[in-house]
Amino acid sequence: MTLNAYEPTIERTLASREEIAATVARLADRIAADYAGKPLLLIGVLKGALHVSVDLAREISRRIDGPSEIRMEYICVSSYGNATRSSGEVRLLKDVDRETAGQNVLIIEDIIDNGHTLAYLRDLFQRRNPATLRSCVLFDKPYRRLVNVPVEYVGMTVPDEFVIGYGLDYQELYRNLPYLAQLKASAFSS
Ligand code: IMP
Ligand code: MG
Repeated sequence: MTLNAYEPTIERTLASREEIAATVARLADRIAADYAGKPLLLIGVLKGALHVSVDLAREISRRIDGPSEIRMEYICVSSYGNATRSSGEVRLLKDVDRETAGQNVLIIEDIIDNGHTLAYLRDLFQRRNPATLRSCVLFDKPYRRLVNVPVEYVGMTVPDEFVIGYGLDYQELYRNLPYLAQLKASAFSS
């Protein structure tokens, strides 16, 4: 599907690509300062956090006094019980490829909603004895949190809607959209 083909199904834009870029840059400022002179291991959560993990890593690297080294790993989990709400059950589909013990682990997620996915990931990496463990989410939907999970870096709060674009999908579509949007109700398959 091309971006043009998506257009009739989009209700409204929630964050433009410029707004997202500015948000990622603000996150990078804080992360670069907090990890200045230290090695940092970014762990992106596939597939949704692919865009934000790459853009964030690039932005952090542009800060002169940032981390001494940046490594990137990816983990893939699936948490959906149905199409638009995640269930409490998180399945690990692909683990990271390398040892994370003793490292400064920063989990990068696209969005947090009920919190189950991030809680699962924090718990997983905590048990592997990192030097430090923090999380960063680009989009926050704070309305239906079921698990109280710490998020040290939050990009922006978004409305209580199902959102797509900039990595986020509906049935594997829309990830390539460069901005964040709300889908029209008619676009959801029943
Ligand atoms: P949680 O477990 O409810 O916090 O949801 C986290 C995961 O659900 C994220 O990693 C997303 O993959 C997915 N998710 C939550 N809300 C949305 C949304 O509005 N659009 C697309 N994916 C979402
Ligand atoms: Mg995700």
